[in-house]
Amino acid sequence: MVFLAITFFILLTLCILLAILPSLLHPLLFWKPFNHEKSSDARRPSLGTTETKITQEVAPYQFPPLRPKSSSRMAMGLKRLDHSNWLTLDSSYLSEHALRLSLLSSRHADVVQCLPGSMASCQEVLGLVTSFLSTRFPQHYSIVTKADGPYIENRLTSETYLIGEKCENPIEVAAKLAMEDFNVLVRDPETGEYHLRASATLFPAGWKLQERIGYSMARLHGPVPAWKEKLGANVNKYFDHLSSKTAMERTNLFIQTTQDLFQDAPESPPPKPLTPSNLMVRRERQAFMRLEKTDAVLFTVRTYMQPVTELGEEEIIALRSQILGWEEEVRLYKGYKIWGDILMGWCEEMVGELEVKVKE
Ligand code: HEM
Repeated sequence: MVFLAITFFILLTLCILLAILPSLLHPLLFWKPFNHEKSSDARRPSLGTTETKITQEVAPYQFPPLRPKSSSRMAMGLKRLDHSNWLTLDSSYLSEHALRLSLLSSRHADVVQCLPGSMASCQEVLGLVTSFLSTRFPQHYSIVTKADGPYIENRLTSETYLIGEKCENPIEVAAKLAMEDFNVLVRDPETGEYHLRASATLFPAGWKLQERIGYSMARLHGPVPAWKEKLGANVNKYFDHLSSKTAMERTNLFIQTTQDLFQDAPESPPPKPLTPSNLMVRRERQAFMRLEKTDAVLFTVRTYMQPVTELGEEEIIALRSQILGWEEEVRLYKGYKIWGDILMGWCEEMVGELEVKVKE
């Protein structure tokens, strides 16, 4: 009898330990968008029904090296979002932050646009961003409650911003805190099309935010070859099914002849002849997720720039094979006529002759 009682006690203790062990080991294992209004303690994200796993234990995000593309077709190229690395911090933070602040003060309307009716979604974006940053990088960001509302402290820059419902420019604050640009898309119930309703785009890749704010996805992508035939319909369907659990990411690639992160027009022929040292690989990491409270779509963009002359041998081979895999109209759209000969000549010098033939 005593033996049975002891065995039962040991089993019960083991069960309890197994049940609480994960939360003892990882207090930040579960992360969900932080609701400033409801929480009494602004420093602790609360649990809810749409938790997303985020942990500090994962390695900091590294943009993947260039690889040859398996397909030459314009494709969505989506993969599951790595949630713990949704927003990123790296050694370019301070210099890019300074550039972001300067653009915000010198050309505000070129980089921030919020159409009427988008405020609630922008507030939701800021809630997600502050919750993420203070959970993922608690050494750099904290949320503190003051008499007039919650604030976020950024120890990297010694800045403090009012957040929560009294914040008047939430998408702009999000863009000042993070290295990413933020876009809010809202579905038109009549057409089923998604429209760009708010954006903080500090680093546009060849387009003007002021011109395109309010545009549908189809109009936004007007200059993109084969958008309508190959991508448009899929993207609308994909957005319809997006949830906080099915967040996705994709990357893209451009060649630029300047180092400008703020590039609001397509590449044009430069005044002086180009050399390989003028050429930059511009790549974006784009992430998509549903804003659960306001039912909009959030599209974030992190831009990476690297001089082509800093690429290693394998990346040069990969870059060349990607570019040569582009269909003719894609090459034209991406400015191949401006930089193509210089880049291809340099690739040949660095890694030898072509193995892939240009498609005619
Ligand atoms: C799954 C969703 C999306 C896909 C598959 C997609 C795909 C593309 C592609 C293929 C291009 C051509 C350049 C490149 O190679 O990347 C492009 C350009 C562009 N995309 Fe998207 N995109 C998506 C979502 C969005 C969203 C949500 C926005 C909202 C801001 C956006 C804004 C743009 C703009 C402004 C351009 C430049 C167009 C130009 O050159 O004038 N895209 N996109």
